[in-house]
Amino acid sequence: MSEPVMSASARRQGELWSADARVWADEQEFRAFPAVERALELVALTSADRVLDVACGAGGAVRLAAPSGARLDGVDASTSLIEIARERTPSANLSVADMMHLPFRDEIFDVVCGFNAFQYPTDPVGALREARRVAKVGARFALVIWGSDEQCEASAHFRALRALLAPAPPGTPPPLAADQRVTSYLASAGLTLRHDELVSCPWDYPNAAAALRATRSAGPVRRVIEQVGERAVNEALLASFAPFTSPSGAVHYDNQFRVLVATND
Ligand SMILES: C[S@@+](CC[C@H](N)C(=O)[O-])C[C@H]1O[C@@H](n2cnc3c(N)ncnc32)[C@H](O)[C@@H]1O
Repeated sequence: MSEPVMSASARRQGELWSADARVWADEQEFRAFPAVERALELVALTSADRVLDVACGAGGAVRLAAPSGARLDGVDASTSLIEIARERTPSANLSVADMMHLPFRDEIFDVVCGFNAFQYPTDPVGALREARRVAKVGARFALVIWGSDEQCEASAHFRALRALLAPAPPGTPPPLAADQRVTSYLASAGLTLRHDELVSCPWDYPNAAAALRATRSAGPVRRVIEQVGERAVNEALLASFAPFTSPSGAVHYDNQFRVLVATND
């Protein structure tokens, strides 16, 4: 097989998400599962479906989809996360690839998933168009993204991290957790929105140390660590947990993640 085409953005994301891949896989990924499970329920997978999970990460969704008997493919920019995904679901076809250059022929998938995925490339509409290219006419798309800042208490930790960085230049797209333009992205990519709901995904950690370890494993946090150092990031995150910490020391966030279903008509 030829080398995958990887954009600079995909290579960078791959490095960031590989840095703490095992902690992400074991301690953080599952916190979005209520939304992922609802999205998979809405697209009603069957054993006749061929499914692509775009930016599949450590393969949690692929594993959740496996009992359907569908034929499962997944791609992600992170080599370490793909290794974990392969360990978890050896029957799936999982590879390192850039969502901007999917290594598949046109019109072969019945279902395309993107769980907290399409926000990452600099051109989300281009990524959705590339996903549409490999989808059959009539294919179902399942997406999960964060709700707005008001709907996701955990976005407090992103605000704390942004405060450590220089202000973004004018014209910079809004940060991940605040990007609610997904419905216009879907329309621009030629997809028809069929369903849009909020699903509760509470995040509970027994103490601040566990919250720190898990939240630090995400790629965007790693990027801030590279810029301002571990100590500043640890201090900012620990301070941001305080309003969500009970007298016992447990950290709790109420979050609403957004589940969307669209079709390629
Ligand atoms: C928030 S994680 C979500 C992973 C998985 N979908 C889940 O729900 O756990 C975002 C993922 O996007 C991947 N990613 C970012 N940019 C990418 C790109 N251009 N192509 C492929 N994967 C990318 C990262 O490596 C990371 O695994």
